[in-house]
Amino acid sequence: MSKVLIVYGSTTGNTEALAEIIGRGISEAGHETKVVNAADVAAPGLCDGWDMALFGCSAWGDDEVVLQDDFQALYDEFDQINVKGKKAAAFATGDSNFTLFCGSVDVIQDRLEELGAEIVAEGLKIDGQAQSDQPEVRDWIKKVVSAL
Ligand SMILES: Cc1cc2nc3c(=O)[nH]c(=O)nc-3n(C[C@H](O)[C@H](O)[C@H](O)COP(=O)(O)O)c2cc1C
Repeated sequence: MSKVLIVYGSTTGNTEALAEIIGRGISEAGHETKVVNAADVAAPGLCDGWDMALFGCSAWGDDEVVLQDDFQALYDEFDQINVKGKKAAAFATGDSNFTLFCGSVDVIQDRLEELGAEIVAEGLKIDGQAQSDQPEVRDWIKKVVSAL
């Protein structure tokens, strides 16, 4: 059994709901998961003791990526989360009418790579509200679980 930390930043609850779906899926595969709001965690040593860390954050820009407020505060101190050498991936819900659809995923994934994390799956981008039986959600969870 592996331990997976899932941290989300969510303003209207869409990415929070996706985080919960991902958490349930990974738990059902027999692993320990913890789903936490970015507003409730501190950056220093955040990834210590976890085998994998998954980060979810919605985007609030227009022609530039603006990270969700609570996540931005954590992101500002991302160099302190000790993600180097850890398995990691990013996810978000967004709106495909925006030019930078789920642009937060790319920003976070790039930063995780820069910090030395091992990206186990290309970021998951869901248009609108996520459903637990959505094939792209199920496939992504499978991919992440297979990396554990
Ligand atoms: C002012 C504004 C800007 C937004 N910018 C983006 C964007 O750049 N890219 C995107 O995919 N979605 C964008 N969205 C849509 C939200 O990110 C989307 O509704 C998301 O699911 C909200 O997630 P949350 O409830 O977890 O915060 C924007 C919405 C608003 C109201």
